[in-house]
Amino acid sequence: MSLNTQKVEFVRSASGPKDFPRESLPQVAFAGRSNVGKSSVINRLLNRKNFARVGSAPGKTVHINYFLVDEKLYLVDLPGYGYAQVSQAEKDRWARLIQSWFDDPTLMTLGVLIVDARHKPTANDVTMADYFKATGKPWVVVANKLDKLKKSEIEPNLALIRETLALPDGVEIVPFSAEKGTGREELLGLITAHAEGRSAQT
Ligand code: GTP
Ligand code: MG
Repeated sequence: MSLNTQKVEFVRSASGPKDFPRESLPQVAFAGRSNVGKSSVINRLLNRKNFARVGSAPGKTVHINYFLVDEKLYLVDLPGYGYAQVSQAEKDRWARLIQSWFDDPTLMTLGVLIVDARHKPTANDVTMADYFKATGKPWVVVANKLDKLKKSEIEPNLALIRETLALPDGVEIVPFSAEKGTGREELLGLITAHAEGRSAQT
């Protein structure tokens, strides 16, 4: 599948299942800790400066943001987790929204779990990885902020991520820097390959 990443529109901010798009386009879901760079990774894929952030709802409300690329697939920006200042009510809302999204197995074509390349994944990252494992759908891990690592730190950190998340053999880790563009082609390749598989089935 060729994907014109210049052609992209913000579709909507979903606060519950009634807002989830139901047409049979592939959906690529991005999850990760707050501040890990979900919006930056999406912006880098689209080579836009501030697109994902523009689409996200202001304020504290937890939403799932949908971006339609080239009228062929959705990039789905799932709400971030692990934000210390968030109230219990907001955490509950996050859990309900995420659960309702994962409860519908038709929604996800490919999952992308973004972690910080510098650190051991958090307990929340491990929980999120378990959500992805439970879907039975393909998913990948993006190790973002690679530009902040020394060259010698890269391999050991990737190994620690693989081990901490207990990644099955088939799950790839893509070393990535939203800042520098490292990994963009590889991630786009994985996204289009999986989107193609989905389109071929439907
Ligand atoms: P929430 O929407 O709040 O959950 O955050 P997010 O995961 O969307 O993170 P966002 O893209 O807003 O990035 C958070 C901060 O990390 C920003 O200051 C970015 O500039 C920075 N950042 C993101 N990716 C990279 C990267 O690859 N390298 C470096 N050095 N900084 C990055
Ligand atoms: Mg964001």
